[in-house]
Amino acid sequence: MNSKIADVLTKLDIDANKERVGKVTVDSNERMLAITSDTGMFFNIILKSIRAKRVLEVGTSTGYSTLWFADAIKYNDPSNEDNNIITIEENPSKIKRARKNFEDADVNHIIEIREGKAGDLLRSMLKEYQNLTKKEKVEPFDFIFLDADKENCIDYFELTLPMLKVGGIIAADNILHPESCVPEMTRYAEYVKKKSNVQSVTVPIGNGEEVTIKIK
Ligand SMILES: C[S@@+](CC[C@H](N)C(=O)[O-])C[C@H]1O[C@@H](n2cnc3c(N)ncnc32)[C@H](O)[C@@H]1O
Repeated sequence: MNSKIADVLTKLDIDANKERVGKVTVDSNERMLAITSDTGMFFNIILKSIRAKRVLEVGTSTGYSTLWFADAIKYNDPSNEDNNIITIEENPSKIKRARKNFEDADVNHIIEIREGKAGDLLRSMLKEYQNLTKKEKVEPFDFIFLDADKENCIDYFELTLPMLKVGGIIAADNILHPESCVPEMTRYAEYVKKKSNVQSVTVPIGNGEEVTIKIK
């Protein structure tokens, strides 16, 4: 692991754990609601093994999961300084915290935060992607992480799947954990398992991850 990224993750782990056990009182809008550290490591290993170069995340919060992805992206392509990770968040104070964390970890130059409502942003990204694909000017994503409002997760899956390469992975959080699992995510897991152009499995790590590969 990159040492600067690891240092920021360690600091955020302490904050996230305090939040989980109720040691600090945090306004509900300001909670990190981060993936667990074993989930972060799990995705970091997946991204390194598929040699991912481009990542899309829906739901940045303070950037904890994004930093796990950034470490893999740097490992896979150390010389590339483009915005290889696009991450979407609507809460301005979380965006400010995420930006500071990315600066502290020295990965702000490879991460673009798109600010606003995920549905609107994804619809315009897809439109732009389809126009650029006709001119063969854009690379698809290798990995997409859905971790924002759970009730719209199926819509986000359908909006992002066309922008994922064949062989790429879409993952979604909060499938299994009794406190964070919501009926929408159970429906999401059932929905993706029935689709013909993907294969999907529920992985019992952290809060439960649905991991889906695009096969055609
Ligand atoms: C579970 S947290 C993300 C945690 C982050 N992925 C991590 O593991 O560190 C979900 C985030 O999605 C954001 N969010 C929820 N609905 C959204 C929407 N419709 N558009 C953009 N962001 C949204 C919330 O503000 C919140 O910060």
